[in-house]
Amino acid sequence: MSTIRVLLAGLTALLFILTLPRPASAADDSAQIYKVRCAACHGVDGHAGTPMARKQNIHSFASAAVQKKSTDELADCILNGGKERRASHTFATKGLSVEQGASLAAYVRQLGRRK
Ligand code: HEC
Repeated sequence: MSTIRVLLAGLTALLFILTLPRPASAADDSAQIYKVRCAACHGVDGHAGTPMARKQNIHSFASAAVQKKSTDELADCILNGGKERRASHTFATKGLSVEQGASLAAYVRQLGRRK
């Protein structure tokens, strides 16, 4: 009898652990933020194939203009609008943390390297 109880308790604990939400990794987080907040202009693949990108003359993330920037500069572009202090890109005032900016910068670079 008590063996069954122990087994049941163990099984319940196991089920509980298996159903706990897993912490999202930084990479998952960036992909998700990018999709929601950036892709409409920069394109899902970052290659600026959107009507919005053509209208606003947005560089593909694969372009030299973007790839030559350091990851810190890219993060500054995203969080503070870069050197031009682009008002559309002050994501630091729109809820993105410094960590999220840095991982988005890495994500942007990675998108640019994909074909
Ligand atoms: C409303 C449209 C729009 C949205 C939304 C948007 N961007 Fe941009 N982005 C632009 C424009 C316009 C530029 C300036 C043109 C350029 O430099 O390519 C730009 C420039 C950039 C640059 C610098 C590129 C360069 O040439 O130096 C980066 C990096 C960037 N955006 C990342 C992001 C990220 C990450 C997000 C989401 C958190 C985002 N953008 C959301 C329109 C947008």
